[in-house]
Amino acid sequence: MEKTRQKLRTAAIAALAFSTSALALHAQPKTNMMHQWAQGSEAAAIAKLGEMFEAAGGKWEQTAISGHTSNTLAKLRSDVVAGNAPAAVQLKGPEITEWNQTGQTANLDDLATAEGWDAVVAPELISVMKPTGHWVAAPMNIHRVNWLYSSKKILDELGLAVPGTWDEFNAACDKIVAAGKICIAHGAADWADTTTFDSVVYGMDIDLYRKAFQEADTEAMRSQGMIDAFAQLRKMVGYMDSGINGRSWEQSMAMTMDGDAAFFLMGDWTVASANLAGYNEDVDYLCSQTPVNWGGNGYILNADSVVFFKQKDPDYIEGQQLLAKTIMSPEFQVTFNVAKGSIPSRTDVDLSTGGFTQCQQKSQSDLKASVAEGTLVRSMAHNMTVLQKYRGAMMEVITEFVADTSITPEQGANQLADAVEAQQ
Ligand code: BGC
Repeated sequence: MEKTRQKLRTAAIAALAFSTSALALHAQPKTNMMHQWAQGSEAAAIAKLGEMFEAAGGKWEQTAISGHTSNTLAKLRSDVVAGNAPAAVQLKGPEITEWNQTGQTANLDDLATAEGWDAVVAPELISVMKPTGHWVAAPMNIHRVNWLYSSKKILDELGLAVPGTWDEFNAACDKIVAAGKICIAHGAADWADTTTFDSVVYGMDIDLYRKAFQEADTEAMRSQGMIDAFAQLRKMVGYMDSGINGRSWEQSMAMTMDGDAAFFLMGDWTVASANLAGYNEDVDYLCSQTPVNWGGNGYILNADSVVFFKQKDPDYIEGQQLLAKTIMSPEFQVTFNVAKGSIPSRTDVDLSTGGFTQCQQKSQSDLKASVAEGTLVRSMAHNMTVLQKYRGAMMEVITEFVADTSITPEQGANQLADAVEAQQ
């Protein structure tokens, strides 16, 4: 059995080598990758992919779309409609399935078999990358969304511990505000408000999170549990300062790490940005999971991946093979993820060497613990659960709720359900 598998594998590799070399006679592998990483640590991380692709003989071009994931998705849609589908695009969650269903995405099965992806890719990612049993996406990483960064300086000064539950969080904030300090550093943007709300709903009621945010169940959205979650969000808006509009997540991060605010809730791209700006774990900040009321380890997962659209030009076709191969290489998974704050999508990479931070190592061990405890969820805020039309509708309601303090938690919950129902 093992021998047959080995033979098949060798034959597949030989076939791939033949087909790539046959193509390579005429083709110069080329790509133009569309993605959302336009600035700062994110641009620095994706630049590493460009460098590795070029070192492997490819010609790298990129189209970086400023803003958050929805801007990239909008550009993708308009390019495809214009008959100009990108050779490679950063695409996530259910959008991978949706684009796969159009029949325009390339099938990566041959490469995946030759390279043994099924055996090394984290099991949590496989169904996302193989929506119908065929590989259509190459996963770059695993990001954890439910991180709480605490200012070591403020916690030490006030003798406070990192809060483990939402009640402890509120009690800490009351003390921090009473001491004349800002409790939560925040920059209002639809996706950032929704990132915070992801953690609130999840930490208060994991079943509600699954029903409302993974299954888009509007009855769950109108429930008392969701009203309670909006009430917690309302409280948290009160713990923010008045400068949240127009503030970037990097600025909020700096407020916390400089000791101007106590807490910052954000995914672990923050770790990359902190490294780049020279902040240190355990000196400037502590990282822990955002509060949960149900004990145990929680993990809200987000993953960046690349999907390839069918092309006519052999240079781009050849480039797709090379790019997917580069992305899945252990070398790239280390270099990129050290620079991105995330952890590799491969399970066979050792994080104790190569420059991963303690937060990144904790992400890996907490992921394992969360899987074992059955608490792992995917992130709604980061396009990993419902289609963009539902996520977009929910983000609008959540961001409006943060901006307008006259909206009551009951109204928030009903508006959330109404907005999703309007898209059905
Ligand atoms: C993406 C990350 C990115 C973050 C902030 C997430 O949705 O998956 O790659 O760093 O947004 O822009």
